[in-house]
Amino acid sequence: AVPGPLAGKRVLVTSGPTHEPIDPVRYIANRSSGAQGTAVAAALRDLGAEVRFVTGPADTPPPEGVTVIPVESAAEMLAAVEKALPVDAAVFAAAVADWRVASASSSKIKKDGGGPPALALAENPDILKTVSHLADGRRPSLVVGFAAETDDVVTLATAKRLRKGCDWIVANDVRPETGIMGGAENAVTLITADGAETWPRAPKAEVARRLAARIAAAFAPAMEA
Ligand code: C5P
Repeated sequence: AVPGPLAGKRVLVTSGPTHEPIDPVRYIANRSSGAQGTAVAAALRDLGAEVRFVTGPADTPPPEGVTVIPVESAAEMLAAVEKALPVDAAVFAAAVADWRVASASSSKIKKDGGGPPALALAENPDILKTVSHLADGRRPSLVVGFAAETDDVVTLATAKRLRKGCDWIVANDVRPETGIMGGAENAVTLITADGAETWPRAPKAEVARRLAARIAAAFAPAMEA
């Protein structure tokens, strides 16, 4: 094992978008690049954690030195996450699709002149919320979610922390003018039970290192009185 403050700790990271199948050749997806989740996994690895990296189909290759568990859909991501438990900490950086096609076709849908198909959608499981509400023993002692917001970032992310039942929320401002979505930098506010802490805008790798250091500090043995 790699030495470091997180040596011996098992950490789960979800990352990337999900692909929700319409039929065997088509899917619904989103523009998540997986860059921030990949950087978080690498930063946790660098502090010595044993990282289980559950990733949707991302643009960026996964980091080396982590256990990569590739998935496509939200349902597959939830199953992979449950299988990867127990862990000490979990960071949910994936941009999970909110909806899937209710009944994906097992054969390619044909353009048969009958007009476009109606795609009924069904709600996907909320993976972060599910894991946050697991019973003691199965629930990681630290559960961290992300929140991409365009307005009232701190207010909405603070409410999201309570609604999801996670310990921390890493909130980012994804208004188009920030250039954060799909960009190289991130500007985040960390929301904990103690309040909101805004970090300076920095490359995603730097934000990841700072988050990993905070996670390590949360696991550090309390100082002797
Ligand atoms: O509700 P919203 O999608 O804004 O929440 C974002 C947070 O919840 C992220 O940490 C994301 O990874 C997680 N999430 C999840 N499963 C979902 C939706 C979001 O784990 N179905």
